[in-house]
Amino acid sequence: MLKAFAKINLYLEIIGDRPDGYHELVMILQNIDLADQIDLLASSHDDIRVYCDHPEVPLDKSNIAYRAAKLMVTEFPDAFVKYPGVDITIHKRIPVAAGLAGGSTNAAAVLVGINLLWNLGLTQSELEELGATLGSDVPFCVAGGTAIATGRGEQLSPLPSLENIYIILGKYRSLAVSTAWAYKTYRQQFGSSYIRDTNSLATRAAAVHSGPMVKAILHKDAMEIGHLLYNDLERVVLPEYPQVLQLREVFANAGVLGTMMSGSGPSVFALCESKEQAEQVKLDVRKTIPDNDLELFVAPMSTHGIQVIS
Ligand code: C5P
Repeated sequence: MLKAFAKINLYLEIIGDRPDGYHELVMILQNIDLADQIDLLASSHDDIRVYCDHPEVPLDKSNIAYRAAKLMVTEFPDAFVKYPGVDITIHKRIPVAAGLAGGSTNAAAVLVGINLLWNLGLTQSELEELGATLGSDVPFCVAGGTAIATGRGEQLSPLPSLENIYIILGKYRSLAVSTAWAYKTYRQQFGSSYIRDTNSLATRAAAVHSGPMVKAILHKDAMEIGHLLYNDLERVVLPEYPQVLQLREVFANAGVLGTMMSGSGPSVFALCESKEQAEQVKLDVRKTIPDNDLELFVAPMSTHGIQVIS
């Protein structure tokens, strides 16, 4: 049994194109105590099976948790002969297609869990390396805490953990944003301003490493972090999804420390001064937007990656 945490982006800057078709990014990632539970069981039937009762989670080979298990089978065929089947049960709490790395964190849990189930003895960095082949956010989901992520998002520099900072998070159940769409649209609209030479890309990434957001995190200054939240993908997602823009405005008017869309959206989070404030904002937002389609969560930032419960 494993706990797989969601992530938010405190900072997301798109700095250029990559030869592999992805984008060169500088991000600051933070995981939060909003988690799915993943149960892994060795079984005698000769395949990988995924169980989940959430209607939007696929149970077939397209599920990234399935692909994580398949990757382990391919990498460690001898272990799979010894333990021929694996059942993956996903208890979904993290909203799906929300910019919260819900799928990536499930994949990370499968890698961590199979490593234990099959006694493979892989290190965290080996698991992160395997994770990077599945998705850009998977290495961070293995590691957790607070980190600067560069490259596609898979190269991590850990930062000191932030604790006791509460967020409120909102997501409309019926809205889903495709990450591929968000990046493609961004390229169409802003690609002409991408940095193209390697030196300038490195300089830009270094500027974030020594920049104000990292300083605010080092000082654990929640108010300053709130001021400095940033996400380039808001530029394409907010104009397309007015409900998301409205939710962001309602958060901003509720006296929070700062608010931003997470990843490619459509979830929006706000940093709060305390748990009490986050709970109060939740009540206020419910009153301002009395729509059952809107899910609201209060969660503290979390300091660890995949957690093994039993
Ligand atoms: O890595 P992941 O599969 O999560 O990415 C989903 C999609 O988001 C990719 O197919 C790509 O279109 C886009 N993406 C990107 N640049 C990144 C990360 C993701 O263009 N650094």
